[in-house]
Amino acid sequence: MSDADIQALSDIGGSSAEDPPAPITDARPVPRITIQAFCESPELVDVIDAAAADRRMARAQVKVHGGGVAAAAEFYREAATPNLIVVEAKLAMPQLEAELDRLADVTDPGTRVVVIGSINDVELYRGLIQRGVSEYLVAPVDVAGIIRTISGLFVEQQDAPIGRTIAFVGAKGGVGSSTIAHNVAWSIARGFESEVVVVDLDLAFGTAGLDYNKDPTQGIAEAVNAPERLDDNFFDRLLARCTDNLSLLAAPATLDNAYDFGEFAFEPVIEIAQTGVPTVILDVPHMWTSWVRKTLFGADEVVVTAEPDLANLRNAKNLVDLMRQERRNDAPPRLVVNKVGLAKRPEIGVNDLSQALGLEPIATFPFDGQLFGTASNNGQMIAELEPKNPNADTFDRMAASVLGRAEAKGARRSLLAPLLEQLRGKKAG
Ligand SMILES: Nc1ncnc2c1ncn2[C@@H]1O[C@H](COP(=O)(O)OP(=O)(O)OP(=O)(O)O)[C@@H](O)[C@H]1O
Ligand SMILES: [Mg+2]
Repeated sequence: MSDADIQALSDIGGSSAEDPPAPITDARPVPRITIQAFCESPELVDVIDAAAADRRMARAQVKVHGGGVAAAAEFYREAATPNLIVVEAKLAMPQLEAELDRLADVTDPGTRVVVIGSINDVELYRGLIQRGVSEYLVAPVDVAGIIRTISGLFVEQQDAPIGRTIAFVGAKGGVGSSTIAHNVAWSIARGFESEVVVVDLDLAFGTAGLDYNKDPTQGIAEAVNAPERLDDNFFDRLLARCTDNLSLLAAPATLDNAYDFGEFAFEPVIEIAQTGVPTVILDVPHMWTSWVRKTLFGADEVVVTAEPDLANLRNAKNLVDLMRQERRNDAPPRLVVNKVGLAKRPEIGVNDLSQALGLEPIATFPFDGQLFGTASNNGQMIAELEPKNPNADTFDRMAASVLGRAEAKGARRSLLAPLLEQLRGKKAG
């Protein structure tokens, strides 16, 4: 591709010129709470609106009103108070104190109050906390600050280790997104010795069962079709154990039923998976439905796999741009370039692809029909089939990268695992 072509592609969809905010990495999704904000300034209205649009606030109901503490006190004389009231107050003590007392008189027990003020003073802060205010923030506040505060107040510490979701999606069908998802999940389970659940969202054609050499009779179809039964016990029974630390919620991969789902159909399944394990791998099929969009918008990480050709580039560009736009407080999706160097195929160079998308790939894999074909026919991972193959190392590095961790020591060590097992076998026999 010429430089002009790359530039033209980079401009499609026109990513906005302003720099995106730094990703929020330390706030958990807020539960189903009601929040009402009373804002005196248009700046705070914008910040609350932007916070409400963030994926971490998707379950909360947020309403913005004009006016500060006095308006809130007046409003709640008639109305029930929500879980959280955010009030902007530019007053100093003792006026602020007096107005907050009026608000306290009409606030139902259990409602929390966050005050956003303009005075940066420790005494004021202490005084407010003593009066029962949950938090005092000094203006100007940003979107991240609001989300962190709300998350800190409402995400219970005992529930804290909520699993991170990592969604894998292909820029086109058949690019190898599922293969990569399954191998990365396996590397996480082995190298980090950390529990992983793989959720195969490709109900009609999913291959996770084949790849892990498992043929469970139950899985995601039972979960999605019986949300009313979905609790930890039921969910655990639907999981198929594949290896140490790795379980699968398998797709039926039968065509007896059509699989049409609403936007929120998979939300309870993903939520319950997250409560049980630290990492949930979502194997998302290459399609564009409301639930696929919802799943990608809501995931902690999105990994887009593309082959180096024009259609992949166009689709990856659309996906990446949309994710950047809809997930403004998150890191952009991770790019993986797969099947590089397929004989006789004219390809777009990885550098050109990466430049057009504005993303460095976290991994590239060569086309290797023998290796990947044998692994898939055997129901094995690449590292099981050929532990010393460089692609096995690449999956280990990807595992570290999507977890945001340094590469696992265990990953290297366990390259010796087959040899050790052999030796142990000899000794025992
Ligand atoms: N680097 C590679 N070299 C050769 N073959 C590969 C490579 N990566 C994946 N494959 C093969 O490509 C095929 C498609 O892979 P896979 O099912 O993972 O793709 P997908 O993107 O999930 O497809 P779908 O759109 O059906 O979900 C499989 O047969 C797999 O073994
Ligand atoms: Mg797939």
